[in-house]
Amino acid sequence: MAKQMFMKGIKEDGYSILLECSFEKLLEQWKFLYNKNQKVCIVTDSNVGPLYSREVSAVLKKDVKEIFVFTFPAGEENKTLDTVESLYSYLIENKFDRKDILIALGGGVVGDLTGYGAATYLRGIHYIQIPTTLLSQVDSSIGGKTGVDFKKYKNMVGAFYMPKLVYMNIDVLQSLDERQFSSGMAEIIKHGLIRDHSFFQWISSNAENILKRDIKTIEEMIYKSCFIKKEIVELDPTEQGERALLNFGHTIGHAIEKIKNFQMLHGECVALGSVAAAYISLERKLLKREEYENIKHIFKSFSLPICIGNCSPEEIVEITKLDKKMEEGIVKFILLEKMGKAVIDKSVKEEELLKGIKEILLYE
Ligand SMILES: NC(=O)c1ccc[n+]([C@@H]2O[C@H](COP(=O)([O-])OP(=O)(O)OC[C@H]3O[C@@H](n4cnc5c(N)ncnc54)[C@H](O)[C@@H]3O)[C@@H](O)[C@H]2O)c1
Ligand SMILES: [Zn+2]
Repeated sequence: MAKQMFMKGIKEDGYSILLECSFEKLLEQWKFLYNKNQKVCIVTDSNVGPLYSREVSAVLKKDVKEIFVFTFPAGEENKTLDTVESLYSYLIENKFDRKDILIALGGGVVGDLTGYGAATYLRGIHYIQIPTTLLSQVDSSIGGKTGVDFKKYKNMVGAFYMPKLVYMNIDVLQSLDERQFSSGMAEIIKHGLIRDHSFFQWISSNAENILKRDIKTIEEMIYKSCFIKKEIVELDPTEQGERALLNFGHTIGHAIEKIKNFQMLHGECVALGSVAAAYISLERKLLKREEYENIKHIFKSFSLPICIGNCSPEEIVEITKLDKKMEEGIVKFILLEKMGKAVIDKSVKEEELLKGIKEILLYE
């Protein structure tokens, strides 16, 4: 049942990505990487901690020196330097040294924050990712981007810092609410769109089983999706070029996230941004009308939004221009050259952006 892949790091720092249906096999991995003289701090949030931290501790208990659990309140608003500071204090009080290990148990918020804590505490200690949301399993736990938000700026402070292991227990997705599940689906669909048309079609034809959260189907889907992200990241771990393809749907998506004051979920905004970017691709005759309609249809079938009200398109464009992915004043926009193939395009003009955005606006 279990699946596994190996991810190359920037230098010697490669790591395994494991897909399992329980936490049991974590012990084997721990014993392979570490020993009984090492302490663990499970970093988790107030939703995930009560659900799973005890189970993870029980699995590891025999073979670690001591286990600590650091829990912070769930939510993006706590992905901050303040929380990282509390984590540092907790680690210092409990005498964590450079050979001890952090385990991120939670969604992308926990993963990003723990990774950043691990990258900076004592100039770097090891950490393991145990992602528990669909989004974190297929996206944020892979690739070593860590960080926190600073004031109103998202992911403004961070580091590229690879985990030593990514361990997914797919079973935990059963407790995830529907909206969060859909949000993860947006990134999975994106992976198909930018790299693998047959995967996109596979998602379409397996929609029913995916929505039922059939464990075999979900496992296959997560595996394929992770594989796509892994391939792109390995080619360009620090985002000098190709890795930017993963930002398909994100330029406009991020702008919408900001305008809506982060009240919408990330994946929901990515769905909207993807539809707008696909529309620009359609206008450039890179996509056929039918393909564009299929893209809208697939997002819709996973309860993701494909249009949005109460937004000014001009305001979205202005925010898009402030995106930190800009290079020398030019927005690096990701278009679909065809289904299953994304390209970086630096020639997208303001008028085209506006057209794409107007396509996803609801007029009351
Ligand atoms: N590092 C990267 O490459 C990367 C990529 C994409 C997104 N991100 C970041 O990831 C974050 C979003 O991640 P997310 O969508 O996982 O959000 P999240 O971590 O806030 O999790 C969403 C909610 O689900 C809860 N939850 C988590 N697992 C659960 C489970 N199994 N059962 C029940 N509830 C559960 C959490 O407590 C939270 O309330 C953002 O901060 C984003 O910037 C990072
Ligand atoms: Zn994303």
